[in-house]
Amino acid sequence: MQALELDMTAIDLTKEAPVKEPERQYYFMAKARNYVKELSEKIGRPLTFCVTTFGCQMNARDSEKLCGILEEIGYQEETEEENADFVIYNTCTVRENANMRVYGRLGQLGRIKKLHPHMMIGLCGCMMQEPHVVEKLKTSYRFVDLIFGTHNIYKFAELIVSRFESERMVIDIWKDTDKIVEDLPVERKYAFKSGVNIMFGCNNFCSYCIVPYVRGRERSRNPKDIVREIERLVADGVVEVMLLGQNVNSYGKTLEEPLSFAKLLREIEKIEGLKRIRFMTSHPKDLSDELIEVMKDSKKICRHLHLPVQSGSSQILKKMNRRYTKEQYLALAEKIKKAMPDISLTTDIIVGFPGETEEDFQETLDVVRKVRYDSAFTFIYSKRTGTPAAVMENQVPSDVIKDRFDRLLKEVQEISAQVCSVHTGTIQEVLVEGVSEHEPSLVTGRLSNNLLVHFAGGQELIGKIVQVKLNECKGFYYIGQQV
Ligand code: 5AD
Ligand code: SF4
Repeated sequence: MQALELDMTAIDLTKEAPVKEPERQYYFMAKARNYVKELSEKIGRPLTFCVTTFGCQMNARDSEKLCGILEEIGYQEETEEENADFVIYNTCTVRENANMRVYGRLGQLGRIKKLHPHMMIGLCGCMMQEPHVVEKLKTSYRFVDLIFGTHNIYKFAELIVSRFESERMVIDIWKDTDKIVEDLPVERKYAFKSGVNIMFGCNNFCSYCIVPYVRGRERSRNPKDIVREIERLVADGVVEVMLLGQNVNSYGKTLEEPLSFAKLLREIEKIEGLKRIRFMTSHPKDLSDELIEVMKDSKKICRHLHLPVQSGSSQILKKMNRRYTKEQYLALAEKIKKAMPDISLTTDIIVGFPGETEEDFQETLDVVRKVRYDSAFTFIYSKRTGTPAAVMENQVPSDVIKDRFDRLLKEVQEISAQVCSVHTGTIQEVLVEGVSEHEPSLVTGRLSNNLLVHFAGGQELIGKIVQVKLNECKGFYYIGQQV
């Protein structure tokens, strides 16, 4: 599923590598291809890879880029990690437990590598941007072959060549970048839908969050590049795109010719053949009236808005550096619902931020009850070294957090089951995503508002938009029938 056609045989490897991107990377892809071919001839079978993604949709998209490059240079995908010749972990560090999982799996992988002499192990993503992580890997995980960060994944082919040529651990981490390299191969997970980066990095510095430190300063892609990428995707069978950015509502502010996110959406809406547009994530402080207007008028923008609240207490929001109050958030949610009564609102909530009292927590519950979210991702506050919150006083004891977390989850789930069931009996457009994992006679599709529905159907429906009657709500999904 690659929209980009590259002719590797036309590249002259007797010359020096070009300086300009992406040509430089095409050169290294051609070079890596030769190394891969040589090794696979030596061992008498194709070489394989397995990429494991931790964390968010941004990482999932980055992994598709890694897979695109790996396939371009001659590796074949292998689903079982222990059988793969090249294992890559694309890591996340937003919460501590994501890091622990990586170390745990890496330990196991080290044991497997001893029995599998050709195995290469690559680590990339947000965790690698933390100097203490790289130090730990250098001392305690010597068997890792390649370490790179979030800013230079476009250089993956070049780094693979370095590894083939040096036989040593290759480490390349950049602190930040203002560079965006276009036109590299991508191997999509789904034929009919795709993530599309519209911006990278984050400038918000919410006090609990490590993202601005590991993903760097905010930079937006050129609108022409975005539109061209989506046009190519559509020509390749994609009907739904998910526009990705840490804070899509501030899209375009850093461009030479600034363009609002709402105006970008209008441009994307014009692309013929594209049926659905989603985006993630919206910061409440930057959500404009213009965006609400554009969403309301649009036939393609899905009726779903992910609007992380993080806390319902204005006092805590201030300490989080979110730059809105409880009242402002509630007024915004109200305005959005008034403009689009059928919109689904979802959110992220952190429990146990330093200094959070029972009263603060009650404010969060109050927001949950007032907004009535379709669903909410709830997180236990995780202390991230280097963030302002990590050194704040009054860190909340874990038993208190656990108790609040359980109460919040119960509330969120009860409300969400009620909110989700209001569509029972209606007929809605559904994009069919695949055969149901639990029942092969059913397919699973997604409504515009992001809810899932299972109904009788076969493989041939995948990627199609069909009309489905929603017969029964099962809490977080529906059972329906095609009409
Ligand atoms: N602890 C807990 N949750 C966090 N998030 C970000 N940083 C932290 C942290 N230190 C959550 C926020 C964000 C989501 C992607 O992850 O809710 O919206
Ligand atoms: Fe983190 Fe806040 Fe940026 Fe989101 S907006 S990535 S929570 S700093």
